[in-house]
Amino acid sequence: MTITHVTDDIGLAARALRDGGLVAFATETVYGLGVDATNAQAVRRLFEAKGRPTDNPLIVHLGGLDQWSLAAAELNEVAQRLLTAFAPGPLTVVVRKQPAIVDAVTAGLNTVGLRIPNHSQAIQLLRLAGHPIAAPSANRSGRPSCTTWQSVLEDLDGRVDYILKGPDCAIGIESTVVDCTGPVPRELRSGAITFDQLRGVVANLRACQPQTSDQPPTSPGRRHAHYQPSAPVKLLESMSELCELPPAALRDCTLAELIDSASVKSRWPAQAGDQTLGVVGDKCFLLHRRFASISEYMQGFYEFLRESDRLGAALIYVHVPPHNDKSAALRDRQKRAAGYRE
Ligand code: TXA
Ligand code: MG
Repeated sequence: MTITHVTDDIGLAARALRDGGLVAFATETVYGLGVDATNAQAVRRLFEAKGRPTDNPLIVHLGGLDQWSLAAAELNEVAQRLLTAFAPGPLTVVVRKQPAIVDAVTAGLNTVGLRIPNHSQAIQLLRLAGHPIAAPSANRSGRPSCTTWQSVLEDLDGRVDYILKGPDCAIGIESTVVDCTGPVPRELRSGAITFDQLRGVVANLRACQPQTSDQPPTSPGRRHAHYQPSAPVKLLESMSELCELPPAALRDCTLAELIDSASVKSRWPAQAGDQTLGVVGDKCFLLHRRFASISEYMQGFYEFLRESDRLGAALIYVHVPPHNDKSAALRDRQKRAAGYRE
């Protein structure tokens, strides 16, 4: 068993990465679990530590756009336009891979996901490490991602060498992934940078089509279970669905709810209770988190799921926000937390 050290020493963490260690670190999206992407043995250890299926490729992180050639063989025009607009930031571009990146990182694909986090501690760490750093989200495979170092410790204690203590992640869900290698750029995973924002830069961007099993996987990660707490998750398109249930049925449940003014007015029936507080009539939950905006909801969503598990919730109710460009990524994670996969 590995001894996990929690540290705030960036130099120590960078040295561990150079020596083939596994180091969890904060980014603006979620915590990542970093490893030298040119070290095959270290990469193998990382897949084991997470329990990650080996057909799901990892994103390679760089400390600046100037380092792109550490990971990519070339940056075509689409990738350049996207990176110029959104790097550093919550965007991953899939481009042709540089041979020094070991095959296990890209699950045998000849492409690589490349990201430059908008996070000063992560940038310092990556620049000090000096290597391209493969970093999946720092959670046990299948579980909700971690947005606090304490949650990383909860999932990965005894499995990784270091956890670099950082602040809670500001965005809270993973980067948007765009495949730039085909004739038409394609969004593979929604994220904090929205489809409309990307479209403003690459007008011919397509959304990802659900895949059939006879097609070669363009984004293998979409097939696996993700973001799932131990307790089952039930999605609520409308809060009024809860009103019909007896209070006793909800006592061991938790609830996450969006209470921005638009959704409160349009979604709550008058008899449901105090609309400003978001109390559901006479019902009482084990935990009731209220989020005032989509960005607040994104930031707190995974920690809400984890807290529900810590409290031993029997069922987790998740209020789904109205569908629009800004809510697409959160809705995607909510669906997957509830068990949906392609
Ligand atoms: O915000 C993020 O992206 C976080 C932080 C740590 O940077 N990382 C993250 O990594 O979410 P992970 O491993 O949990 O998700 C990586 C996603 C998967 O869906 C994977 O299939 C996709 O990126 N991906 C990576 N490389 C790819 C490639 N070459 N082609 C297609 N999809 C790729
Ligand atoms: Mg992940």
